[in-house]
Amino acid sequence: MGWSQGYRPRYALDTFNCPACTGQTDRMADQQARTGEDSKPTETPAIRWEEPPEGPVLVLLDQTRLPAEEVELVCTDASALVEAIRSLAVRGAPVLGIAGAYGVALAAARGFDVDEAANALAGARPTAVNLGLGVRRARAAHRAEFARSGDEGRAAAAALAAARALHEEDRAASARMAAHGLALLGELLPGGGHRILTHCNTGALVSGGEGTAFAVALAAHRAGELRRLWVDETRPLLQGARLTAYEAARNGMAYTLLTDNAAGSLFASGEVDAVLIGADRIAADGSVANKVGSYPLAVLARYHHVPFIVVAPLTTVDPQTPDGASIEVEQRPGYEVTEITSPQAAVAGAGGGIPVAPLGTQAYNPAFDVTPPELVTAIVTEEGAVSPVTAEALAELCARSRQVTIS
Ligand code: MRU
Repeated sequence: MGWSQGYRPRYALDTFNCPACTGQTDRMADQQARTGEDSKPTETPAIRWEEPPEGPVLVLLDQTRLPAEEVELVCTDASALVEAIRSLAVRGAPVLGIAGAYGVALAAARGFDVDEAANALAGARPTAVNLGLGVRRARAAHRAEFARSGDEGRAAAAALAAARALHEEDRAASARMAAHGLALLGELLPGGGHRILTHCNTGALVSGGEGTAFAVALAAHRAGELRRLWVDETRPLLQGARLTAYEAARNGMAYTLLTDNAAGSLFASGEVDAVLIGADRIAADGSVANKVGSYPLAVLARYHHVPFIVVAPLTTVDPQTPDGASIEVEQRPGYEVTEITSPQAAVAGAGGGIPVAPLGTQAYNPAFDVTPPELVTAIVTEEGAVSPVTAEALAELCARSRQVTIS
């Protein structure tokens, strides 16, 4: 299977003079809420299907280049997409599902071996359950149509229709999660003026809509109820600093960036009212796999009596994974820890970054950690919230969603 990728620059942002940086105070990385003209939601979608005369392509907003520049990555086949998924050009559980489905459609439309493409896509990253789900959904649509009509073209169209449907469902789920999450915040924190801590990136970049946890914070901002979004930088790949801060700035939210290890003192000084995070996989017992660093936040939240809320679509709940210990946690290369990479920095190390540890240093670099259900105050989905988090309550929510889908 051949592959190719191409870059299509949208526009470059001068980091020190970009619209997102206006209004910066003398506390670097600290933004005040802004409304009106200088508030610009991200206009370039995280993912879209295009059909130029040369043939169909999947266009991704390359997240490795943000926030320095908005550059689109054009995938002409599934192998290019696999590479984009591994390098985190496209990342975050819901959008990985959408990407996987479009990847199958792309392979079918371009006449590649669909099974081979589906296997490669599903195996590109192991933890986000949505990826395999999206791949299987488009693959099943392709198979069913081919069995019915024996027509490759129709089967490819069926795979594309399945991908588009998943994309649209995720957009709708995002809006419903935001509404449920906002209502839950209102219940848990009746005074308003929420100070919310978040980790990694869970906004429009990971979603067909406005995201998961970030969409709840955005809804609170729009309702005038967000006092501050505390943004964990999220080492080692800085999804918080690079992506969540970018999305918060673009939406005119009041946000402050902190290093992951500053969270403890922030809790201790009483500055956090709630933690909102997403999930890559939720096991049947309610254990939550999310970006590494989520579990320590859950422990801190429990100690400081702060609600720890997980926001995820039901596509992230995996009834086949019984418990947290059964979740496969992706291990990433050590150079992501021993080197600092930046889209703008000169390169030197084996991973293309600036070494920050002695040559040959071994690194422990799990991409995710697992939070047990007893530390999770609530899981918010598009079908509502469960609290306390139990296997029974989650199963009931999933069953309700199946009924909604069938009726
Ligand atoms: O390694 P990443 O950047 O793909 O990790 C993403 C996360 O951990 C997100 O928090 C998770 O996918 C939830 S996104 C709604």
